[in-house]
Amino acid sequence: MNNHELQNRKNKVFARGQGNAYPIYVKHAKNAELWDVEDNRYIDFGTGIAVCNTGHSHPKIVAAVKAQIENFSHTCVMVNPYEVAVELAEKLTKLAPGDSEKKAIFVTTGAEAVENCVKIAKAYTGRRGVIAFNGSFHGRTNLTMGLTGKIAPYKKAFGPFPGDIYHVPFPASSYGATIEDSLKAIKNLFKVDIEPSDVAAIIIEPVQGEGGFYSTPVELLQELRKICDEHGIVLIADEIQTGFGRTGKMFNCEYSGVEPDLITMAKGIAGGYPLSAVVGKQEIMDAPIPGALGGTYGGSPVACAAALAVLKIMEEENLINRSNEIGKTFNSRLSELQSQFPDLISDVRNKGAMIAIELMCDGNPDKPNADLTKAIISKAAEFGLILLSCGFNSNVIRFLPALTISDDIMNEGLDKFADLFSSLVEK
Ligand SMILES: Cc1ncc(COP(=O)(O)O)c(C=O)c1O
Repeated sequence: MNNHELQNRKNKVFARGQGNAYPIYVKHAKNAELWDVEDNRYIDFGTGIAVCNTGHSHPKIVAAVKAQIENFSHTCVMVNPYEVAVELAEKLTKLAPGDSEKKAIFVTTGAEAVENCVKIAKAYTGRRGVIAFNGSFHGRTNLTMGLTGKIAPYKKAFGPFPGDIYHVPFPASSYGATIEDSLKAIKNLFKVDIEPSDVAAIIIEPVQGEGGFYSTPVELLQELRKICDEHGIVLIADEIQTGFGRTGKMFNCEYSGVEPDLITMAKGIAGGYPLSAVVGKQEIMDAPIPGALGGTYGGSPVACAAALAVLKIMEEENLINRSNEIGKTFNSRLSELQSQFPDLISDVRNKGAMIAIELMCDGNPDKPNADLTKAIISKAAEFGLILLSCGFNSNVIRFLPALTISDDIMNEGLDKFADLFSSLVEK
């Protein structure tokens, strides 16, 4: 069956809300490449949305998963726990930024990790309010949609959302906001809408993911830490997209020296197996009573075994260092493209291997070029590339290569991208 036939089959039985970026049906995938059912080859610069940081089907992850399923695949960590989960919690509580003693819980998806952070913060503080940022993305459940700072496509037609969620500006040029604007808005909120003593948490992505790969300025993180300390508010870092070496550190917060109270982890954590975690300060994590946190599949032994293999691979293959090298290569190649097309590419940015270019019209950074962004994504597969877009104004191409990608494949992918870009803009 070919791609077209499979897409027709899918369209008949999948609701359109769960759409797909490419009508390309995967037969197999290896490290940074994938092949479709028609045996076409693609270089994967999307890694299943920042999940397969250790590449597709890394032999060590495959071996760890096989060994685990030979023993058992599910008992529920809340019924009969197992060593792989304990060992993983031991490792993650040590790896999380900051010196405080930490504890962990495991759930299954990124959104669930965010939900659990908010539950834990509410139980700890006994408060109701949560502050989030414009352009943020925290998930597709009701609470996390409420926290997400962009209407379409995430929130459209789905309200009402839980109450006591407040959004403030995120400091990036695309939003026309500065750090001062963000801080002023929080101060204002405390006067107009909610007293600080009613706020349970402030949640922020250290680099906005879906919002457009905008780094949170260190100064803002430091100011948020101060505000949270002053008012007894829990600071949550949503590291779901930025974690596990993606931005050139194990966790992005390490760049700022700020220790969040709670951190969400998912995506890169287990190389493609569904697992997420909340790791945070012990006394905060222990606020909810036994049975209040978790879920049937949370901390699956198969996913925990995969996650332990991920950590081993990251160390053995020095993937944090590699993330920075990849970022440098992409940045220099994409900057060359920018100098060729200065009226179309307004910015090239990266934190490690979390890389983006922003597209504009007529050399004006205030005129986002969503049409060109869309055209690039639609044509990428013809050039043998899997690419993703993002951005509050839908004008950002993001690159999330596997940290295990070879130089040859990376450069081949970048050549393909340059050809693709030129083919669309050169008349
Ligand atoms: C920062 C951030 N938070 C939360 C989520 C939601 O994760 P999931 O799709 O696994 O629920 C995502 C997913 O893209 C994310 O990037």
